[in-house]
Amino acid sequence: MSVQITLPSLHPGQQRIEDHPARHKMLRCGRRYGKTKYGIAKAAKTALEGGKVGWFAPTFKYTQEAWRELVRRLRPVCELEGGRVSEQDKRLELPSGGLIEVWTLEGNEDVARGRDYDLVIIDEAGLVGNLATLWEAAIEPTLIDREGQSLFLGTPKGARTPFNVMFAEAEMGVDPEWAAFHGKTVDNTTIKNVVEKIAKAKLRAERRGTLPLFYQEYEGVPADDGSNPIGLAAIRAVVAEASKRPTVAWGVDLARAVDYTVVTGLDQLGQWTEQHRFQNDWGPTKRKLLDLCGTTLPVIMDSTGVGSPIVDDLQLAGMNVEGFVFSRKSRGALIEDLITAIHGKRITIPGGITQAELESLGIERNSETNFTKYTVPDGMHDDCIMSLALAWRCFSYYADTPDWRPEKRELPWMQDEDGARILESDADAEFSALGEGW
Ligand SMILES: Nc1ncnc2c1ncn2[C@@H]1O[C@H](COP(=O)(O)OP(=O)(O)OP(=O)(O)O)[C@@H](O)[C@H]1O
Ligand SMILES: [Mg+2]
Repeated sequence: MSVQITLPSLHPGQQRIEDHPARHKMLRCGRRYGKTKYGIAKAAKTALEGGKVGWFAPTFKYTQEAWRELVRRLRPVCELEGGRVSEQDKRLELPSGGLIEVWTLEGNEDVARGRDYDLVIIDEAGLVGNLATLWEAAIEPTLIDREGQSLFLGTPKGARTPFNVMFAEAEMGVDPEWAAFHGKTVDNTTIKNVVEKIAKAKLRAERRGTLPLFYQEYEGVPADDGSNPIGLAAIRAVVAEASKRPTVAWGVDLARAVDYTVVTGLDQLGQWTEQHRFQNDWGPTKRKLLDLCGTTLPVIMDSTGVGSPIVDDLQLAGMNVEGFVFSRKSRGALIEDLITAIHGKRITIPGGITQAELESLGIERNSETNFTKYTVPDGMHDDCIMSLALAWRCFSYYADTPDWRPEKRELPWMQDEDGARILESDADAEFSALGEGW
């Protein structure tokens, strides 16, 4: 017996995503772009070919739309021998051996434990507050056995969710397995008179003074919800290409267990020149920092915990570096100086991850102690922000004067064996004995 299944044919905006060779794809689109529809077509096709698919959505309500359509489209095949539909488990089994399971992410930190998939789809990823953690701890591991693919589908809701920073990282091409796609509602050619409809919505938004919301909902650009202590417009106003003038000041945030070492340079006008983001053992990290920052220009470097011996070693190796110890108070003051610089347009910043990290910044006030804390979303890093803030501190303390000249410095240690030993020594080994927090 044969049955006929119809799957939606893709509109051109969906097709370009489908044709892209990346293993992990992130779509940040306007509403009604056809994200869910594309996900459904892809999930169904994968399962019909015998693949295993995990579908994830932020709440039960969001899973229902996809579940119902998947069942509607695939029921005829699932009713053949070897097929099964389980409403209870939200699980479709196909005679091909293919499988689709639908999961809600709400309160489900162990989602899909014990499963392995060829494809995972995360619908409405812009609404998942702990997306980065869930991805790393629960969803990505399901792809290891089968070298599976992933598809993140989302419209942003404010800038304070991990989706935006993950999207920026994918967009920057840091990892060639990842790709990022923008999509506007107007690109959904299956909606009748879409161009006219969107033009009208834009006019309405202009009249009401709600254009940022229009850009978020129809073009996938995060809107300011008032929770960012800098303001998204102020951040976007200082995003610029790298300055071609020489660097005069450096800021370095050192990697901790899970994040990156980030190096940012500023020129004599406070405009960013270079940014480097990497992970390595301490020996190669020190050598790279010395290569990048040299021995004449001032550097301010995170010297918290394990940073302290790194800064010491680099000082001995000739670097003009000063340590900065992060505490709740010093971190806050450092960020506030950066905020003032951004508001005064005294600095320019890189787009991409740095911009996304700054846009994801939030503020918490303790009403009892009146203490202010700057936070990033769950599972996210602040290493680009900190590197930039340290560079700004370095610039404003040491380079922001009209008669500033790089200082000529002697290099007592660089040439001999001691210098080599200092750079090669691995602080990880020396300090791991000190336990957590280093
Ligand atoms: N390839 C397609 N073929 C036919 N119709 C499509 C296709 N893609 C999208 N559509 C239609 O466009 C509309 C929006 O699609 P869909 O619900 O997938 O968008 P979405 O981006 O998930 O929207 P939302 O942001 O509301 O979740 C729906 O009516 C859907 O049927
Ligand atoms: Mg949808």
